[in-house]
Amino acid sequence: MQNPLIIANTKSYLSSAKHVYHIHDSVWQLMDKEKYSYYLALPATMIYEVSKEKYKAFKVGGQNVDTMEDGAHTGGTTCAQLSSAGAEFVILGHSEVREAGDTDTAIAYKVAQALGFGLMTVLCIGEKTRKENVSDTESTTSDYLDEIKSILVKNLSQIDRRSVEKLVVAYEPVWAIGASRPASSDQTLEAVIVIRRTLVELFGLENAKKIRIIYGGSVSDENIAQYVRESGVDGVLVGRASLESKRFANIVNSLYA
Ligand code: PGA
Repeated sequence: MQNPLIIANTKSYLSSAKHVYHIHDSVWQLMDKEKYSYYLALPATMIYEVSKEKYKAFKVGGQNVDTMEDGAHTGGTTCAQLSSAGAEFVILGHSEVREAGDTDTAIAYKVAQALGFGLMTVLCIGEKTRKENVSDTESTTSDYLDEIKSILVKNLSQIDRRSVEKLVVAYEPVWAIGASRPASSDQTLEAVIVIRRTLVELFGLENAKKIRIIYGGSVSDENIAQYVRESGVDGVLVGRASLESKRFANIVNSLYA
């Protein structure tokens, strides 16, 4: 994989920036080469402190923004605030945020706002269930592919095609997040083809080529090899396995190898 994109999503697992340093300082020591790098998605409250730390290995970003611009929005975090705290990217539309009430309309607005602001914008999309995941013999429908396409079209409905260079689409099947097994390389490849085709329809071939597609959902050092070789992705988004230095360093090293 050339120039892989690796994003660690610490969610709300870690309570302090100190804890983040502790893990990622060890990752840094365990990485094979200094030129390897990854992105670290943090709660908004930790971005400033962690981004000040001059680790060459990672770039810091946020896990969400709110739909509002500056103004009377108690509790909201804007793109401008994330950016001035040191964020270079943001994750949007994560299934855990959708579960908490974020709608496709809100996400479409956030994506346009974040891209307009110049943040690398990682849009997470994925089907809730797959029949074939229950039993391979039951797989008689491709409804999940329609679901993937429909979410993608809705969530990208507000953006200007000139801003797609900073767009990343993370294929994150909801059933594979926080689960015991990830999507297989075949399942991922099938979704990646649909996503790529939809991006071409929306933005044209040349623009679509600039958009990276990554996979997220139970990625670990034990299953990373399949994504490197066979699934057509440009990188991975890692939740739980990014909390253990050794496992995460193994993932980084495998993707660059
Ligand atoms: P997981 O989380 O790796 O713990 O499944 C992935 C994600 O939520 O993006």
